[in-house]
Amino acid sequence: QIEAIIYDLDGVITDTAEYHFLAWKALADELDIPFDRSFNEQLKGLSRVDSLELILQQSNQTYSEEEKQRLAAKKNEHYQELIQKISQEDLLPGIESFMKEAKQAGIKTGLASASKNAQTVIERLRVTDLLDTVVDAAKVERGKPDPEVFLTAAKQLEAPAARCVGIEDASSGVKAIKAAGMYAVGVGEREYLAQADWVISDTSHLALDSLVKKVNENKE
Ligand code: BG6
Ligand code: MG
Repeated sequence: QIEAIIYDLDGVITDTAEYHFLAWKALADELDIPFDRSFNEQLKGLSRVDSLELILQQSNQTYSEEEKQRLAAKKNEHYQELIQKISQEDLLPGIESFMKEAKQAGIKTGLASASKNAQTVIERLRVTDLLDTVVDAAKVERGKPDPEVFLTAAKQLEAPAARCVGIEDASSGVKAIKAAGMYAVGVGEREYLAQADWVISDTSHLALDSLVKKVNENKE
């Protein structure tokens, strides 16, 4: 029995994962730090400062705290420019109908995002009403892969973790879901999402009947 479904935002509900990539890529290029899509996979789901740290580790230069803050703010400004035009049209295939289907079936729904821009993005996408609770980076102390953000959402929904499903596109996010003791759906390439209980290539493959089947199979 699934009691709650907890969604990641960037890369699951909308393709903002691509905008995070583009903004980091521009910053890395400017600093002459090598950066490609494969490296970016490690950054998905990580907080802004944790991502920056990993990028700067690729350089032989050292950066002061002040400089790091400036770089993080610069990336965020660029990211905010990129998401300015986000609208309902930017919802990933099938996600809105899946969210509605789950809600109509009486399943509670939550958001567990590492982004401080989450609120803005869900408002622009007009999915706020489809979420019973929203937990973002501002509300937790520890970022993914720590389970805190998923556990906080489950707590707010009053759903036991063992009856929650988490949906993620990031390796760190799948780790967080599993550490929370939930069933993990990974969206993307199996190569990066090995710990997920069920991997689908994209959100168009999400359907409630298939998910229920998978969760039940997992229990047997
Ligand atoms: C996550 C993204 O949702 O949010 C990461 O997957 C991003 O790529 C993180 O770094 C933090 O986002 P923001 O908007 O607070 O910089
Ligand atoms: Mg994500």
